[in-house]
Amino acid sequence: MAEASISVTDHGFLFGDSIYEVLATRRGKPVFLRPHLERLRKSAEGIALAIPYSDDRLITEIDKTLQEAGNDESYIRIIVTRGVGDIDIDPSSCEDPSVIIFVTPPHIYPQVNYDNGINVALVSVKRNSREALNPGIKTGNYLNNVLAKVEANKFKAEDALMLNGWGHLTECTTSNFFFVQAGRVMTPSEECGILSGITRLTVIQLARENGILIEEGKWPAEILQKADEAFITGTIKKVIPVTRIDGHPLGDGTPGPVTKKLMRLYGEYCDNLES
Ligand code: PDD
Repeated sequence: MAEASISVTDHGFLFGDSIYEVLATRRGKPVFLRPHLERLRKSAEGIALAIPYSDDRLITEIDKTLQEAGNDESYIRIIVTRGVGDIDIDPSSCEDPSVIIFVTPPHIYPQVNYDNGINVALVSVKRNSREALNPGIKTGNYLNNVLAKVEANKFKAEDALMLNGWGHLTECTTSNFFFVQAGRVMTPSEECGILSGITRLTVIQLARENGILIEEGKWPAEILQKADEAFITGTIKKVIPVTRIDGHPLGDGTPGPVTKKLMRLYGEYCDNLES
């Protein structure tokens, strides 16, 4: 991976004009492969970019990369950039999108995060509006999230929770956000301006199948004062409890029963996946 290179005039590098996906492996095989490839194509459409490879070709290249790397488990990143072009914001000069696939051993989050939960800072940086750079498109332009993370770091919080311009809860820097109130699970809807996370959708499905009340909607930050539990979801981190917001404990400050149940259900679901 250290030897892979990209031109300095690739618009992905110059302008963040690119899209990407992150996949995890289970028993060495990519999980949720189809949904990730579908989302990659949706993102490409969202920035008017044509992916030069078919899904079959992408799958073949991912398999080859995994075999070469020989990791037990991997973090897989697929990036498609606008390609090399003039040093000009106009992408018309970019003829060949660059496709980059790399794998590394996954970043394993410390077990203490799963056991005790994390502290999330409600930051002042707002999530991009859907009318500006729709968070539903997974572009390589993550500066919004980077700035939120920088703010969270100042507060020594593990992640940042962003509001949108209307003051509604959205998501964290690389994960979706859920909270629990009186046994009911709530998560910001796509209209709030979030990435439609594949882990999020799976957790929503598992909640519904297991009789846990779940609601998608628009909520102001103040609602969290009445929350008993919270958690975040993402491909690599899976389900991590949030036990403090801005350092203040949620409920009794330990991972709650609904969060623990969904962590277990998600783990079991992944264990039983074919690939
Ligand atoms: N991030 N929200 C944002 C802004 C994200 O970047 C991600 C994923 C998610 C969760 O989506 P999923 O469950 O499909 O991973 C939500 C990946 C892991 C990343 O960029 O590293």
